[in-house]
Amino acid sequence: MKKDNMPQVARFWNDIAEEFDTIYTGRKGGFARFLDQWLRKDIYQRFDWVMERCGDVRGLRICDIGCGSGRFVTEFVKRGAAHVTGVDVAPEMLRLSKELVEKDGTADRCDFALADVLNWKTTQTFDITIAIGFWDYIQDPPERLRLIRQKTNQTFLSAWPRFWTWRMPVRKVRLQYIRGCPVYFFRRSQIEKMLRDSGFEVVRCDTVGKLFCVEARPI
Ligand SMILES: C[S@@+](CC[C@H](N)C(=O)[O-])C[C@H]1O[C@@H](n2cnc3c(N)ncnc32)[C@H](O)[C@@H]1O
Repeated sequence: MKKDNMPQVARFWNDIAEEFDTIYTGRKGGFARFLDQWLRKDIYQRFDWVMERCGDVRGLRICDIGCGSGRFVTEFVKRGAAHVTGVDVAPEMLRLSKELVEKDGTADRCDFALADVLNWKTTQTFDITIAIGFWDYIQDPPERLRLIRQKTNQTFLSAWPRFWTWRMPVRKVRLQYIRGCPVYFFRRSQIEKMLRDSGFEVVRCDTVGKLFCVEARPI
């Protein structure tokens, strides 16, 4: 039986929620900002990739799985989405999300659920579903992919950390062995197979820094 790593994952993200959000806000010292721009460039690139692939979101219903501090959620609402739902296992991340949408005046068109997709009780479906910076922490994606498929009507966008980049051993040591948060990496063929087996057709798969960014649609 596969081990359930979610308590460790939730604890880790809860503890570093504010620190994570400074990657977006830049509220840190100049050298730390420089390091983010250099070493975490794909966090900005994947954001731009998602917005570009989503195109015109006016009137659409969107779900952000592993929404973190809500940066995608508020941006979708600003771009005219009808409603955006953010789902996350870390309460502190959801607190930051709610604070952000209040500040941005986007709160009336979004809601949040404290849950893992595996135990998220909802009958809602969405035009677009995204899961960005999420699969890194999932040992066995198929079950969650099948649940996401059931909730997705048009488009599913996901970002996956690539196997065998120089970042892989660094993250394994830093996150998993030092900080106790398990982290996983994926090959392109494996991602495409898991998506197909879950009922998606892969429309495109782009290499974005140390990630694969994948656009899929339900079959
Ligand atoms: C690297 S952050 C990414 C946040 C956001 N998607 C972004 O790119 O700005 C990963 C987030 O996924 C959440 N997460 C990890 N595993 C999860 C799961 N099984 N269900 C829901 N959220 C999860 C974490 O709590 C964390 O907030």
